[in-house]
Amino acid sequence: MNDRYENAEKLVVQEVAPRDGLQIEPTWVETADKIALIDSLSTLGFARIEAGSFVSPKAIPALRDGEAVFQQIERHPGVVYVALVPNLKGAERALASRADELNLVMSASQSHNRANMRMSCESSLAAFGDVVRRVKDASGGSQKVSLNGTVATAFGCPFEGAIAEDRVLGIVDIYRKLGLDGITLADTTGMANPRQVARIVSRVLERLPAAALTLHFHNTRGLGLANVLAAYEAGARRFDAALGGLGGCPFAPGASGNICTEDLVNLCAEMGIPTGIDLDQLIVLSRGLPALLGHDVPGQLAKAGRNRDLHAVPDYVLQI
Ligand code: COA
Ligand code: ZN
Repeated sequence: MNDRYENAEKLVVQEVAPRDGLQIEPTWVETADKIALIDSLSTLGFARIEAGSFVSPKAIPALRDGEAVFQQIERHPGVVYVALVPNLKGAERALASRADELNLVMSASQSHNRANMRMSCESSLAAFGDVVRRVKDASGGSQKVSLNGTVATAFGCPFEGAIAEDRVLGIVDIYRKLGLDGITLADTTGMANPRQVARIVSRVLERLPAAALTLHFHNTRGLGLANVLAAYEAGARRFDAALGGLGGCPFAPGASGNICTEDLVNLCAEMGIPTGIDLDQLIVLSRGLPALLGHDVPGQLAKAGRNRDLHAVPDYVLQI
């Protein structure tokens, strides 16, 4: 049996460290350092980078410099720069800052949406309607902006526990009716398991093409990459991941990092799934994170090295 897939379809990675990764960091990261991080990521083969959010600066002070970041990054052709947006005010800010795509976020659970967005799911959906109308107006002019809708807590909520699958699918249908181009299912606090993921992905892919579906896993309970493989086997092709395994929602108790980009790209490299991402340079970039943030990061590959990074046989072994 072959250890590698043959002719595997590409797995598209959206890098989210500049948004999900930095939003929970307690120490302020200078605007220039954020820009340098995004500019470096832009050279490594990512098709999509979530570069920041336009939310209340009181809610997420770490990302209050979204305008400066979006205005000063070096745009690479072929890279879509995404901004997370909760409401019309965020959409106005993102459009003025030339974001290529707006990512609208609502939780499947009312209690997490109230904790995170300070409103009911119904109020979030009403705000999304305003955003869609605003973006279609802008796109009628010169600006071509795409829209993505995220269903947070889609695989479980830290307040409510299990989330009914039909509720998630119902939100997917509402997002499609709103005219959103893409949909992300997010496991905000790492409650998904691979069988659940395979089942939900299969059901969602009956409704939309794989190119329109992104999976967003957190590794809170160590199941992140197992969930990726289950989703890939079920037909999903797009995944969010954060350099170093940074990340987490500050309004979800017990939240921790996204799946780690370099760990994911290594999994793909070892199994023969193309990603188009320069893994060696990704590791170099990840190894700079502890100095930038002042603490160790969860990712494992940057510490262990790749399989091919072998060690010298110790002298005592040579003498045996
Ligand atoms: N960007 C900047 N400021 C915003 C904003 C936005 N997108 N939306 C609202 N505000 C400002 C308002 O102008 C108002 O400012 P003021 O106090 O100076 O008058 C203030 O925030 C309160 O506005 P309100 O509409 O009452 O918001 P709220 O307090 O009910 O909070 C959200 C609602 C959605 C703005 C807030 O909960 C939020 O930003 N959540 C995002 C959390 C997040 O990013 N989580 C992680 C990612 S999933
Ligand atoms: Zn997340």
